Amino acid sequence: MDIKTMVVQALEQTLKDHLTGIEITVERPKNPTFGDYAIPCFSWAKSLKKSPQDIAQNLATVIKHSLFSKVTAVGPYINVFLDKTYVSKKITNQIISSKEKFGSNSDGQKSNVTIDLSAPNIAKPFSMGHLRSTVIGNAIANLAEKNGYTPIRINHLGDWGTQFGKLIVAYLKWGNEERVKEQPISKLLSLYIKFHDEVENHPELADEGRRFFKMLEDGDPQARHLWNWFREESLKEFFRIYNLLGVSFDHIQGEAFYNDKMDEVIEILNSKGLLELSDGALVVTLDEYDSPPCLIQKSDGATIYATRDLATALFRKRNYDFARSLYVVGSEQSLHFKQVKLTLQKAGFEWERDMVHIPFGMMLQDGKKMSTRKGRVVLLEEVLNEATDLAHQIISEKNPNLENKEEVAKQIGIGAVIFQDLKNFRTNDIDFSFEQMLNFDGETGPYLQYTHARCHSLLRKAGCFIPKTGYSIREEEAWHTISHLTRFYEVVKQAWEDYDPSKIARYALDLARYFNSYYAKVRILDSEDQDARLCLVYSVAIVIEECLRILGIQSPKSM
Ligand code: ARG
Repeated sequence: MDIKTMVVQALEQTLKDHLTGIEITVERPKNPTFGDYAIPCFSWAKSLKKSPQDIAQNLATVIKHSLFSKVTAVGPYINVFLDKTYVSKKITNQIISSKEKFGSNSDGQKSNVTIDLSAPNIAKPFSMGHLRSTVIGNAIANLAEKNGYTPIRINHLGDWGTQFGKLIVAYLKWGNEERVKEQPISKLLSLYIKFHDEVENHPELADEGRRFFKMLEDGDPQARHLWNWFREESLKEFFRIYNLLGVSFDHIQGEAFYNDKMDEVIEILNSKGLLELSDGALVVTLDEYDSPPCLIQKSDGATIYATRDLATALFRKRNYDFARSLYVVGSEQSLHFKQVKLTLQKAGFEWERDMVHIPFGMMLQDGKKMSTRKGRVVLLEEVLNEATDLAHQIISEKNPNLENKEEVAKQIGIGAVIFQDLKNFRTNDIDFSFEQMLNFDGETGPYLQYTHARCHSLLRKAGCFIPKTGYSIREEEAWHTISHLTRFYEVVKQAWEDYDPSKIARYALDLARYFNSYYAKVRILDSEDQDARLCLVYSVAIVIEECLRILGIQSPKSM
């Protein structure tokens, strides 16, 4: 059980004669000198017919429990101080007995949460935006699981649209099978760019492109074959990146997956009388919600992105009966998701309120968007490999004799990229910097990994110490760390409710900071209290590792 709940129960127990039927809420005081928890007394004033100040004064003298070492009244609040001996033993015991399950809860009761993440577009490079969606989505899926839900990770691959008609034309005119096989995405991208350059002087190419897309839609074997090939080759490249990142999916259901599910969307909207003609196109007007209309079908009969997302939503509700359906997609698509939700609402699908768009900001370099177009091409795989190389250099300097250096360098380099993203609140734009993310002393992934490895090195030096029970740790220097450990449950819940992995990242950074300052002040090995102290070391290692796991980052035991 988490400490906050324990505090509430202890209060209920000792106050039961004074506060029958009244709910007790506890808060964390901003200033720790006011105690570990504060109980506001405002809401009791009416039924007790006393001022909150008086209530706090009276009740503070009544509260007696082994969990608390001191109880005081400050204005309208009762402040309680946790008993260090009792709490340290309790919390280390919990961590030791539950290990990586520590901090989990069963709030979700195994219900399904679909998470739409990554979703790159085939025949185009995997962009920084897709990296962000992948790592944020993956961490949110891990948080869902930690909170008792069953996450379903879905990759809504961008594998359909008029651009594939153009690409087929370009390939048939200027393409070369061997060269595409060698470097599929970059070659396909150049073909696509060439098409756009040429179309300026040869407008008939645009018609060709449309014709080929129509053929693709109608199942023409040659068009289908090429499209399939582009898709397969692109997926091979994407999966190299997913393997580096350690991210996997339960389903790859791209836009093309919904081709045979589009008629139904139109039928449903039509039967509800929601479709209107506008310049030959079919739209659902959303004036009453102060929103521009949702375009459903273009004048040439083609369906579009939004129609596909309507089909997607219906499919996911039917097949996964989600408790929540999350879409981790850049903030530039906020209007799109708003329109999709409003259209479903207008069509009477109440479950639409369980669909949540989780937006995020941009990745910047030197204040500019890291883009895959216009020459500033940043290939993600190169970024990941460069981070790994840099990590390799750093380890070779710091710890030249380390075994499996390659593996650890990968864990550090990639962890650094992921952490640099996740430590920021997701809607903030992020400044990309190799130096910053690989700094072992800064607010970085490697700093956390290093702290975790330090814990393991201590445990190894003590003969691979594994505590069997929790220990009482009285010393003042350890209290920040212990009290912070007691907060993990709350942070796991809050991070999930806010879809905010940065709460876990920040929590882990604070834990590492508290622990490292403890380590600097207190001798652990060969001290009188060695076992108790190592028990704390062991607990910190477990919790940092679990934080990193939630964020999708590995924790090497030495580095
Ligand atoms: N492929 C799209 C893009 O790159 C993202 C798809 C997001 N998911 C969705 N269900 N619309 O912009």
